[in-house]
Amino acid sequence: MTVPVPPYVPDPHRDRYAVRTAGMTASEIRALFSVAGRPEVVSLAGGMPNLAALPLGTLSAQVARIIAEDGLTALQYASAHGLPLLREQICDVMALEGITAHPDDVVVTVGSQMGLDLVTRLFCDPGDVVVAEGPSYVGALGSFAAYQAQVVHVAMDEHGMVPQELRAALREAANAGQRVKLLYTIPNFHNPSGVTLAAGRRAEIVEICRAYDVLVVEDNPYGLLGFDGRTHPALRSLDPVNVVYLGSFSKTFAPGLRVGWVLAPRAVREKLVLAMESATLCPPTLNQMIVSRYLATHDWQGRISVFREDYRERRDAMLAALERYMPPGCTWTVPDGGFYVWVTVPEGVDTKAMLPRAVAARVAYASGSGFYADKSGGRRLRLSYCYPTPERIREGVRRLAAVLESELSR
Ligand SMILES: Cc1ncc(COP(=O)(O)O)c(C=O)c1O
Repeated sequence: MTVPVPPYVPDPHRDRYAVRTAGMTASEIRALFSVAGRPEVVSLAGGMPNLAALPLGTLSAQVARIIAEDGLTALQYASAHGLPLLREQICDVMALEGITAHPDDVVVTVGSQMGLDLVTRLFCDPGDVVVAEGPSYVGALGSFAAYQAQVVHVAMDEHGMVPQELRAALREAANAGQRVKLLYTIPNFHNPSGVTLAAGRRAEIVEICRAYDVLVVEDNPYGLLGFDGRTHPALRSLDPVNVVYLGSFSKTFAPGLRVGWVLAPRAVREKLVLAMESATLCPPTLNQMIVSRYLATHDWQGRISVFREDYRERRDAMLAALERYMPPGCTWTVPDGGFYVWVTVPEGVDTKAMLPRAVAARVAYASGSGFYADKSGGRRLRLSYCYPTPERIREGVRRLAAVLESELSR
């Protein structure tokens, strides 16, 4: 039986919500999903990884075996800290980026998004300042807003966050009597800009934060997806005390399993486990066992190389199409890994206002304003090349360029 959609009524609970819910708004990207998901629309909007290279047959046999042989553990509650074996394996993953860590200091979370939420919950009171690259990851901005933290953006260039700009922002906040609690940064293959923080800037940024007594939150879901197969030294490898590191299996294995982690100094880690307990008791046991078995029995690094090749081919298709079709005056970043290209369009075009016209022309993107807490970024847009085929990417960029041309001639 289909139940009819209930008629709209004004929310009878509107006077009851906690004040902090005022900062909770649907992300522009989520609002787009329903239209962008239509098959005739080429979606360059979302950041869904391409899972086609996963060994589904082997995985399903493995999941069946976990349940058959270890089901009473796999389907049971477990520790809020995460399974010990998986925490050890996570330390091996992080070693690829120069991190030396003890498994006790790893807390497994429900995706790194939950790590972000818990870290913000632990550190931010209403009105506290979080400094972040401008632009920054929408999901992080959502968490900061939910805890009523104020975001101050620091400019980036093609080498990532600009250290002098960071220093100036921290000095200004200190002069204004503001309490800056966190620097939130995505050093590798940044979302949304695609840019990677230059090696020479890493130690400087860590040093500036130490000098201003600001905790660094390093969010690194894309670090193993560099197209040349190289990794970059994690900020955490430069400072094990003042950096909290967030990791994820979403982009290197499977986002649907929702397994991520936080690596934190001991005292913070203890508080994180308590926060984890109150949020969800424990991360899903079965999913942790699936990830753990995958890491133990698969050539997972070889599989990541396959993903990387796939993404590189798509990146190349996107860059070639941008070069070929985009009108003069448009510029874009050239990512060395990850999922995203960040485009700047000519003066006079507002990418948010243009979006419905783009969707009508059967192409979707993420408009720039969603990536800034102050909703600036009207001349920018993010294109994702991770999911569509190279042919669809070319067609999508061709359609987008036509929309931009007509926008410019309006
Ligand atoms: C920079 C960044 N951080 C965190 C996340 C969330 O990842 P997860 O699936 O691990 O929650 C994403 C997802 O797109 C991301 O781009």
